[in-house]
Amino acid sequence: MRIVLFTGKGGVGKTTTAAATALRLADRGCKTLLLSTDSAHSLGDALDTPLGGTPAEVAPSLWALQLDTQARFETAWREVQSFLIDLLARGGVDPITADELTVLPGVEEVLALLAVRELAVTGDWDALVVDCAPTAETLRLLALPEALAWYLQRVFPAQRRLARGIRPVAALFGRGAVVPPDTVFDALLRLNDELAGVRELLGDPTVTSVRLVLTPEAVVVAEARRTFTALALYGYAVDLVVANRVFPPGADEWRQGWARAQQAQLAGIRESFAGLPVREVPYRAAEPVGAGALRQVADTLYGALPGDDPAPTPSGPPLVVVEADGADYLLRLALPLVAPAEVEAARVGDDVVIRVGGHRRVLTLPSVLRRCEVVDGRCADGRLEVRFRPESGRWPAEVPPRRPRPNGAGGPS
Ligand SMILES: Nc1ncnc2c1ncn2[C@@H]1O[C@H](COP(=O)(O)OP(=O)(O)O)[C@@H](O)[C@H]1O
Ligand SMILES: [Mg+2]
Repeated sequence: MRIVLFTGKGGVGKTTTAAATALRLADRGCKTLLLSTDSAHSLGDALDTPLGGTPAEVAPSLWALQLDTQARFETAWREVQSFLIDLLARGGVDPITADELTVLPGVEEVLALLAVRELAVTGDWDALVVDCAPTAETLRLLALPEALAWYLQRVFPAQRRLARGIRPVAALFGRGAVVPPDTVFDALLRLNDELAGVRELLGDPTVTSVRLVLTPEAVVVAEARRTFTALALYGYAVDLVVANRVFPPGADEWRQGWARAQQAQLAGIRESFAGLPVREVPYRAAEPVGAGALRQVADTLYGALPGDDPAPTPSGPPLVVVEADGADYLLRLALPLVAPAEVEAARVGDDVVIRVGGHRRVLTLPSVLRRCEVVDGRCADGRLEVRFRPESGRWPAEVPPRRPRPNGAGGPS
C-alpha cells in the first residue's frame, strides 16, 4: 500500500492535485481512497460530488470521504472530556463553558491522524491519497504522534502511579475524585499506542511520501522551503514538488510580467529542492472541477500515458535528514558526486546556504535549528553534514531530545 500526502499553503491547489492524483491511480486500476483532513470541505467541490463521512465510490476504483472529526471527537473523547468537565465544574465553572473549554486545541488533528491510520489498516486499499490541511497545521499534525507519545510516556505513567496512591486517601477525606479515573488513563494510553501506529505508518518512507504543492510566488515558496526542512526533521519523505498555476506565456505586458516573475521563482524552486522532481501545472482558463478536468491536471502532472505511475514506491535515502546526535543536531544532505573541497556552507539568518561548484542550495531552518549555531560542516560519501548546537540560554532544558530512528531509515522518531 502507498500513502501520499498533499500539503502546502492555503489555496495553492492541494485539493485539486490530490484529487487528480487519486483519479490517476484509480484509472490505473489501484483501489484508491481519497480523503481530506482539511476542515475546509472542498474535496466534494473539486470532484463535483457530495461526500460523506464514510468511503463512497465516486469513480471506478475510487472512493472518497470527508473526515468528520467532530463526530469522532464525540465518541473517542467522551471519557476524557467528561472527566475534564467534571473537574472544571468542581472548580465552579458552569457546564456550558466547561464544555467549550474541553474542546482541546489540536484534538481534531489527532483524530484526523487516527482516522487515516484506521482507514489504511481496515480497508484493502492499494493507495491512500490524503488532502491535508494547510502547511502549519499539517506539520503540527505530523509532529504530533511524536510529541504526544513523549508526553504520555513520561508524564502519565508517573501520574498514574501517583493517582493510585492518592485516590484512597482523597476518598478518606471526602474530597471526591479530582484524580483522573483509570478509564481516562486507559483512554490516553490507548491513544498513545494508536499514535505510535500512526508514526510507524506515516514515517515509513517505503509507504508514505509527502508532496509539496506551491505556486511560484515568493511568499508561498518561502513557506514550502521551511516545510521541506521541517518534514526532514520529523523524518517524513518528500518525493515531489508541484508548482501549480504557472502562467503560460502570452502577448500582453501584464501576462509577460507575471510569467517572468514566475520563471524566476521556478529557478529558485529548482535550487531549493534540488534532487526532487518539480512538476508544473499551468494556470488553466477555468477551475479544474469534475473528473474530466482533474484527469487533464493529472496528465500534466504525471504524463499523458495512463501507464505512468503517479505514486511509485520511493527508493533511496531521503534527500535531507535531521537527527539528534547527543545534544547536537545533524543535518545531512545528499550531495552526490561532490568533492569535499568544493563545498561551502554558511548560515544566513534563518537559512543555511550551501554552495557546491556552481550550484547553490538554500534550506530554510525549522525553528528547532534556528535556536542553534552551526559548529561544524563536512562533506563525505556524497553527503554534506552540518552540525548544529543549541545555543545555551536559548534552549529550554525540558525539551525532549530527538533520537535517530533505530532502523536508520531517516529522521528522528
Ligand atoms: N491549475 C489551476 N488552474 C486554475 N485554477 C486552479 C488550478 N489549480 C487549482 N485551481 C483552483 O484554485 C482554487 C484553489 O485550489 P484548491 O485545490 O482548492 O487549493 P487548496 O486545497 O490548496 O486550498 C480552486 O478554486 C481550484 O479550482
Ligand atoms: Mg483544499
